[in-house]
Amino acid sequence: MQFEITIEGPYRAISKLSVNLHSFSPLIKKIPGHNDKNSERGRIVILESGEEHLDRKLLDISSIVNEAKKALSLRSEFYMRVRNLAYSEPSSGSSQFMEPFSPIDSMTIQPWTPNLAQPTGPRTIILDPHHAFGTGKHPTTLLCLRIMDLIANGSRAQPFKGAKVLDFGCGTGLLAIAAVKMGAQEAVGVETDPSSVQAAKTNVNLNHLSGRVAIREGSWETVHEKYDFIFANLVVAALLRTGTHIPDHLTQTGTVVISGFGENQMGEMKRFFEDTGLTISKQSTLEGWGAASFSKKIYLDKGWSSCYYSKHVELSR
Ligand SMILES: C[S@@+](CC[C@H](N)C(=O)[O-])C[C@H]1O[C@@H](n2cnc3c(N)ncnc32)[C@H](O)[C@@H]1O
Repeated sequence: MQFEITIEGPYRAISKLSVNLHSFSPLIKKIPGHNDKNSERGRIVILESGEEHLDRKLLDISSIVNEAKKALSLRSEFYMRVRNLAYSEPSSGSSQFMEPFSPIDSMTIQPWTPNLAQPTGPRTIILDPHHAFGTGKHPTTLLCLRIMDLIANGSRAQPFKGAKVLDFGCGTGLLAIAAVKMGAQEAVGVETDPSSVQAAKTNVNLNHLSGRVAIREGSWETVHEKYDFIFANLVVAALLRTGTHIPDHLTQTGTVVISGFGENQMGEMKRFFEDTGLTISKQSTLEGWGAASFSKKIYLDKGWSSCYYSKHVELSR
């Protein structure tokens, strides 16, 4: 596995910092778009292979960055982020994210441009991902959108109508925005990464949905309500670390859709979430990735039913 550590900041400070980081073989470049000499910004990129010693190296790099901040008495902060390259997607600036595209039949994603004032149709989403995850191109996001489409449009029961949706780990906010566009009453996006929170808030505003989509910074501590649908597209470690909270935040007929794990981890995910008391209702794979939905069991008059109940599935007697 390869990790990319990026540090951004004022270009002159970044060049000085790169000298102190020489043992990590940093690549340094100017960030385009800041033409004034005083506002020039730069980026250091360090590539690390393997997870072994990654924590140690990150600590070393952060302390060098902090030292440099003090020594250079920087008013503006350095911004540091780590990306698992096996789990990334084309960035917003790449040619792969310049044209409108339809991740699912019923929806178009329109990459933001300065002259785009509002979405061109009810099922069009304007998106400016900045650095956040969630352009709609990654298979893990696509799987979530496909399952969302099946839930919202796959039955006459219209289970999304009036529903409250949580996008746990919302990145750009795409799933929260898509849920409302597909008929949910309201959606909340929760995200730990502050720059993704900003990106998600921007996207909510670009789509004129601030009355129906709220974005919160943090994790489960910011979630106090129950939801009809939860979407959680997270790396496996985060799914396993945070997944036990999910049943507490589902309504009695609620459904959670998880994504972000490998197709070969489907069995492990099924065992883990069934141990929390949920029952698997759908599973799907795409390009080596897996996604699954789980629903709450309900107590029926004649005893525990082995069938699951969710708003989109008719109960068989
Ligand atoms: C793979 S991205 C998914 C983004 C988007 N929901 C999508 O499907 O494209 C996962 C996001 O979850 C965030 N995240 C990871 N752990 C989290 C946690 N415990 N609470 C909230 N967000 C978390 C990450 O910062 C990242 O932006």
